[in-house]
Amino acid sequence: MLINNWYVACASGDVVPGKPTRVQMLGCHFVLFRDAAGAVACLSDVCPHRGAALGDGELVGHEVACPYHGWRFGADGRCSQIPALGPGVAPPKRVRVDRYPTQEKYGWVWAFLGDLPEAARPRIPDLFPEYDDTTHWRRMPYQFEANANWMRFEENSLDTAHTNFVHRQFGAKRTPKLEPFPIEPTEWGARVAREKPAPQQDQKSGEIARLLAADRRSTRVALEFSLVGVCHRIQPTFREGMSQINFTARTPIDPWRSRAIGWQARNYLLEPEHDAERMAGIRLAVEEDLRVVEKVEPKLTPRSPTEEFLTETDGMEVAFRRVVARYAAAGNEIDVERFERLRRRQVLVIPSPARREDPSNWVHQTVPLVGDGGG
Ligand code: FES
Ligand SMILES: [Fe+2]
Repeated sequence: MLINNWYVACASGDVVPGKPTRVQMLGCHFVLFRDAAGAVACLSDVCPHRGAALGDGELVGHEVACPYHGWRFGADGRCSQIPALGPGVAPPKRVRVDRYPTQEKYGWVWAFLGDLPEAARPRIPDLFPEYDDTTHWRRMPYQFEANANWMRFEENSLDTAHTNFVHRQFGAKRTPKLEPFPIEPTEWGARVAREKPAPQQDQKSGEIARLLAADRRSTRVALEFSLVGVCHRIQPTFREGMSQINFTARTPIDPWRSRAIGWQARNYLLEPEHDAERMAGIRLAVEEDLRVVEKVEPKLTPRSPTEEFLTETDGMEVAFRRVVARYAAAGNEIDVERFERLRRRQVLVIPSPARREDPSNWVHQTVPLVGDGGG
């Protein structure tokens, strides 16, 4: 798992005024709520007093009150009040929690989980410019969780060859040979465009079967991923002018579980009454993927490619692993084995930008990183 990256915490609508929301990412818990200006505050969820979950507390004005002894924390992470000490006693500076930068984009709350100053942070990618074009695109939200590591899960979506074997409605099992396709690296990811044989007409059902000509030979598929936000966009064009976009972000819940949040947009059958059929298609595809991916071993992607047997058709997965390895080598990788061991008796939090400016005066330690010298 990587720090110093943007992750989608939840849908914007999940952070409602007047109530805190609790979210788990990178094995740590966070509390989200709206500040006086309506912006989303994202704080470490563990109370520095005796460890209760701030996200289970209540909002008093624009501060979150811990459910255990009522200590209040503002959107800046500082404690403003310790009720049992009485009014007029200013809490010590050390009584504070980490606060993480947030941004709302594509209807989601993105949190920057790391300590880089603003100028050094990567930008959230512009992978879904159609988001605002609701005249030509009908979009539907979806969300699901997987008992799979975030890399294993993301590799599944970037994998070209699996569709023919895993997906009943759009795999072409009878014509599985893939033509070589050039992969174009981007700053934090890669993109590829390819033609794939169209599935047999009898694999499709409902309205989409009616729309697609029986003599259709191929589907054009454009695929692009970005490590920033761990997101990707997959756009099949079934025939001229009839296209669909799946834009999905993956957030590690902990080393073993991931959450996907996504939009599916289509530029055909724009009326809402066609949503149910498209949603059923998404649900089926997710079930088909999870049946395979949740059983893949080892649970964490191996560090050495020699521990699996990769071929040239695994090109996008390899491109993904390369960009992850590059970001990890810059000192951003959580040491999962040590983290799992230490967290039983120690609160470990993701370092926030305020820590880089002022490393002392914090109650909680930060997560161990690969190569930080700890044993
Ligand atoms: S544990 Fe939060 S106020 Fe005591
Ligand atoms: Fe799949």
